[in-house]
Amino acid sequence: MLHNHNISTRFCQALLACTLLLGSYAEAADKLANVTILATGGTIAGSGANSTTTVGYTAATVGVDSLIKAVPELSKVAQVKGEQVFQIASENMSNEHWLTLAKRVNVLLAQPDVDGIVITHGTDTLEETAYFLDLVVKSKKPVVLVGAMRPGTALSADGPINLYNAVLLAANPDAVGKGVMVAMADQIHSARDVTKTNTSTPDSFKTTELGLMGYFQGNKPYFYRTSTRKHTADAEFDISKLDKLPQVDIVYGYANVSPVALNALVAAGAKGIIHAGVGDGSLAASVKTALIAARKQGVMIVRSSRVGQGIVARNGEANDDELDFVASDTLNPQKARILLMLALTKTNDSKAVQKMFYTY
Ligand code: DGL
Repeated sequence: MLHNHNISTRFCQALLACTLLLGSYAEAADKLANVTILATGGTIAGSGANSTTTVGYTAATVGVDSLIKAVPELSKVAQVKGEQVFQIASENMSNEHWLTLAKRVNVLLAQPDVDGIVITHGTDTLEETAYFLDLVVKSKKPVVLVGAMRPGTALSADGPINLYNAVLLAANPDAVGKGVMVAMADQIHSARDVTKTNTSTPDSFKTTELGLMGYFQGNKPYFYRTSTRKHTADAEFDISKLDKLPQVDIVYGYANVSPVALNALVAAGAKGIIHAGVGDGSLAASVKTALIAARKQGVMIVRSSRVGQGIVARNGEANDDELDFVASDTLNPQKARILLMLALTKTNDSKAVQKMFYTY
């Protein structure tokens, strides 16, 4: 009798221990942040012919559920859900894709059961999508863009660890209020200042002079700086009722340049032109004449630079006050285009536009 009593006591103790353990797991799972992964394609969803194929692979072939399944560690850091928003190589990203994605992000972030969002994306235009979202997301919750420089089939593929880090970041309360971020190669970058600097190496994304935001180490993000510019919930742009954006194009400056491309873009209806000038946004004489003519037709002109770093000084290489042009500050041409598109949804006043380039 005593023997049976011991067995049943030990059984109850074991049952109680299991119940408590399951309860603690359930409680821990409840404590994990809810992160939604929005997949758009790119190399992180790419596949190659064999394990040494790191160029010449096919982007945008692997679905979001497979991306999540390939990183089972995600379940230890967040409660993850996946949505396949697009499945494209990011050189094909369009204004319409951006509006669809931004509206989905804002709907999700308005939900109390979503704590953060990760967007998997091709690296070719990742910096542009990140900056667009930095200006139109209406929440302080973390939004993290992530890509890969090698397809998942390659030796030392960088996608899985980049995705793990991105979810870590989106799930971390320290990431709240820091604007849209990019997680690549164990580094955290601000959407405004990061750019792709190498065609193929895993460390391609850099914020060269203004500095990255932080690092990932030992399953944790560490922050060292944040952007001084307005973003996300503090930004003035509202795309909720927009189904298209004003046409803004970029013309590139170089020795012996002619105004043919510029004139064609203006004739095709561009509402804004970003001039990616040489040096400090310098204008070749022939192009300057064509820009002045375009301005007179109401086209907004922004002087940026092909150089990639530094401030394009207002009234430096051109008399912007007299020509009624705008200087891009430190935004590279592809990001200046994004800010000008959104600016033109609110104003055609060049002084108001210039103020926006000093604000965002
Ligand atoms: N086609 C490029 C893109 O989707 C591949 C580059 C990448 O994703 O790393 O951006």
